[in-house]
Amino acid sequence: MIAIGCDHAAVTLKETIKKHLISQGYEVEDHGCFTSESVDYSDYALKVAEAVASGKCDKGILICGTGIGMSIAANKVKGIRCAHCSDTFSAKATRQHNDANVLALGERVVGAGLALDIVDCFIKTPFSGEERHVRRINKISAIEEKYFK
Ligand code: RB5
Repeated sequence: MIAIGCDHAAVTLKETIKKHLISQGYEVEDHGCFTSESVDYSDYALKVAEAVASGKCDKGILICGTGIGMSIAANKVKGIRCAHCSDTFSAKATRQHNDANVLALGERVVGAGLALDIVDCFIKTPFSGEERHVRRINKISAIEEKYFK
């Protein structure tokens, strides 16, 4: 199950990505928003991040105007490794190296075609599982343990 969410700046791209994922057989849990009425991206980042952190969803996709606000907010949730990507190389690398579990995209930054390629790279690339990457991710978890309540 893939959790998806956006703010008012990214409803169109969210719908495009949702249709794309469903057409490939993925189950998608849509956390909104659904209209161009102004909302706060942080609310939707929290919904998607919690769906992933709880284990209900395997991965999350967050879209706002830039993708930046969403990524900052999602990374405040323990267990979330949200990668803000605007290219396919980064989307692939963040899965292989960081085992990122949430992708953040900017509708005002990337076109729909590139966004779908980024999503495909993110969803389909497995974590490498290599010891050095596991060690580094474990150190991120240690930072969470130190600073998160
Ligand atoms: C909304 O105008 C915009 O600030 C938001 O979509 C996002 O880009 C924030 O990071």
